[in-house]
Formats: sequence, C-alpha cells, structure tokens
Amino acid sequence: MKVFVVGGGGREHALVWKISQSPNVEKIFCAPGNAGIAEIAETVPIKVDDLNSLLKFALEHKIDLTVVGPELPLSLGIVDLFESNGLKIFGPRKIAAEIESSKVFAKNFMKKYNIPTANYETFTCDEIEKAKKFVLSLTPPVVIKADGLAGGKGVTVCESIDEAIKTIDLYFSKKIFGTAGEKIVIEEFLEGEEASVFAITDGDDFITLSPAQDYKRVFDNDKGKNTGGMGSYAPTPMIDETTLEKIKTQIIKPTIQGLKNENREFKGCLYCGLMLTTEGPKVLEFNCRFGDPETQVVLPLLDGDIIDMFFKAIDGGIKNFNYNIKKSTAICVILASAGYPDDYEVGKEIYGLDEVKKMENIILFHAGTKKVDGKILTSGGRVIGVTAIGEENDFEGTMKKVYSAVEKIKFDGMHYRKDIGRKAVDFLKARNFKK
Ligand code: AMP
Ligand code: GLY
Repeated sequence: MKVFVVGGGGREHALVWKISQSPNVEKIFCAPGNAGIAEIAETVPIKVDDLNSLLKFALEHKIDLTVVGPELPLSLGIVDLFESNGLKIFGPRKIAAEIESSKVFAKNFMKKYNIPTANYETFTCDEIEKAKKFVLSLTPPVVIKADGLAGGKGVTVCESIDEAIKTIDLYFSKKIFGTAGEKIVIEEFLEGEEASVFAITDGDDFITLSPAQDYKRVFDNDKGKNTGGMGSYAPTPMIDETTLEKIKTQIIKPTIQGLKNENREFKGCLYCGLMLTTEGPKVLEFNCRFGDPETQVVLPLLDGDIIDMFFKAIDGGIKNFNYNIKKSTAICVILASAGYPDDYEVGKEIYGLDEVKKMENIILFHAGTKKVDGKILTSGGRVIGVTAIGEENDFEGTMKKVYSAVEKIKFDGMHYRKDIGRKAVDFLKARNFKK
C-alpha cells in the first residue's frame, strides 16, 4: 500500500514513523516533509495549501491512503477534493473542519448541544461598541478570540478591562488578524489544568487515544509568550478513568452526534482542548486534526496498526479497531531556534543526532530541519522534538532520560524548556503516589 502524508512538522514525522510500522505499507510519501521524515519516506516539495498539486500527485502515484496533518488544507477542503476524485483520505470535510476554523461556529454549536465550555458572547466588527459595553460588564481576566484561523495566535487573555478594550480595537479597528478577526468570541476565563484528548471517529462512534498535556509557553513554569508547543507528555495523570468517562459522555459523544445532526459529519481526529475545572472538564477549543507536539507522545503509546485505525475511521467500524494503550510514559521536549516564537535565524548545523539515535527508548521527531550537503540544518522555529519512553507513572525517570538525550544535541542558539513532565511528577507526589 502507498500512503501519502500531508505536512512537514514533528506531528507529521510521528505519523510517518507510526505508519512505517504497519505491515501493509510498502511506500510512504510526504509533502513537504523534513530531513527526519526523508529518512523513512520520500519527500515531495508541494506546499500543504496547494490542493491541486497534492491531488495531481496522489492520482499520478496511485496513492491508497492520504493522511492530513495540519488544519489549513482541511479547512480549504482537501478531503472533499480527494473524495470527489475517488481517493481515500483521513480527516474531516471542510464543513466539519469548521469546528476548528470558526470559533464562533464552535461556541454556538457547543451551546446548542449543551457541551460544557466557558460562557461567552460573539460579536462582528460592526458591533465594536456593543463588544466594549459587554466587556465593561465582566470581571477580568477576559478571553478574546479571533473567529478564524490565526496560526495559534488569535487568543488574548486580558488581565484588565482596559486591556480587553484595547484588544477589541486591535482585532476590529487595526485588523491585526485580517478577516480571521472580523468576528470575535469574548469569553470568561477558566481556571484549571489544560489537557488534550484525541478522539478518532468514523462519524458515529469513536475511540480515544492517551490523554496528553502540552506546554504552550516558551519558558519554564509557564512564563513568556505562547508558542506552537514546547513539549508534551502522556498519559496525563490529571485525567483519571472517571474524568475520561465524563469527557467521553459529556463532550465527545454529543459533539460527534451534534455534528452529524447538523449535516457536518466529522470523520478523523477530533482534538479536544480541555480545561479541567473544579466543575469538571470544559472545552477550550476543538481542533480538526492531531495536535503538535502531543502526537509525538500519543502515537508511541499506541499499540495497534494505525493504518487499520485510519481505514476504520474512513469506512466505519472504528469501534472494532483492535488496539491497546501501552502502560508506559512518554515525554517530548522541543528544541527551538534562538528568538522563537518571535523572529529567529535558520540554517544552523545540528550536532549530536547520530549519538542520540543510538539511545534506547528515545525517538527523534524532526520539525524544522533540512538536509544540505549531507548536513542537517535548522529551517524553522521548532526544530526537533526528543521523545523518551519510560515505565508507567515514572515521570521523574522519564524526564531524566529525555533530558540526557536533549543535552547531547547542539545547534547555535538552541533553547528548550527544562520542566517538561514536572507537572505530572508534582501531581503524583501531591497524591502520595508510590510507584
Ligand atoms: P485556544 O486556541 O482556544 O485553545 O486558546 C489558546 C490558549 O489560550 C489555551 O491553550 C489556553 O491556555 C488559553 N485560553 C483559551 N481560552 C481560555 C479560557 N476561556 N480560559 C482560560 N484560558 C484560555
Ligand atoms: N498543541 C496544540 C495544537 O496542536 O493546536
């Protein structure tokens, strides 16, 4: 079987890595891929939003299955296009992908189907005064979100009413997010720990993968700017069996059924970004795809044939997918370029990868890398994810393992967080958990 993966980050490297372990796969292509992906797949220089070139490639190479990593091609309708050309593709159609690409739609949908989420109001850009008046009635912090896709930057948590008023001006008058910010959601601030749960669904039924936690801020102890993700671990002990059951019955099931009811049947990976509050789990956001860098810890814990999972999501019968979640711990630390998440330089040589590759229970997932004249160079803000696998509940040991690998890798300006996994260690310690 020939498989085509769309995307070129750490998430896609993890997808290609897992797909390569499937017994029926003869060949994997990936567009555009990166230097790590190129070691196990043939990379193809096509951009993820160039749907027509992607289609042409898939038809010419008689691809049996396409798997889409990022949200952009999904929101542009890659699944609709491939399906109408008779191709099998994993992911939601455009209209279902709106659960991620329109926050206004997602919030109104959650309200209609009683899915727990933060209280909110929505406004359009000709309602600027109404939006400001609404903000004046709230107690800070207040959260303001652009409706459309804004590269993960569309959310502002405003610590004061003054900041919220200024933020409304930035979105509506200065149009910092262009058309993505023509509508906004203003919502209450939720307190708690964040977690990500991936539901793989065939539109009717679903299974869940290992609940994970992602570290979004650039510096240790959640300080500094938001990034695309500086690390992750799974499974998060903050989601026990009872909480997972609540997430399934109060959030995932009504979402999948509601979307079907709205003629927006969702097939693919429904990413539930959750806040675990004292009132129970609430939805911060839905995404229409796998998360990055959560995939880099979730897939190593999946014991099962991912190709079978993809086909059972596409053709129905996901409930019959034969799998286990490994009783292990996974931690991924992202190595980033100097300056990231702001401007950064690229083209720095990366050292130490060969030594790390020899280490047991360590997996390297490349993100922004490219090979030039036999050397691996940086080519993005997030450069490489180092994943370590350890024993069940041994977050402390797995942290040691991951950082012993991280310390062997070097490139000019490299920075990373030193506390990935610490929240799980502290959580278990607070509960006097004995390994
Ligand atoms: P989103 O893209 O909606 O997940 O938002 C990005 C980040 O903003 C989340 O991961 C949270 O850290 C934060 N955030 C979003 N909505 C809220 C909220 N209602 N309360 C607290 N934090 C939030
Ligand atoms: N880890 C956050 C995301 O993939 O959106």
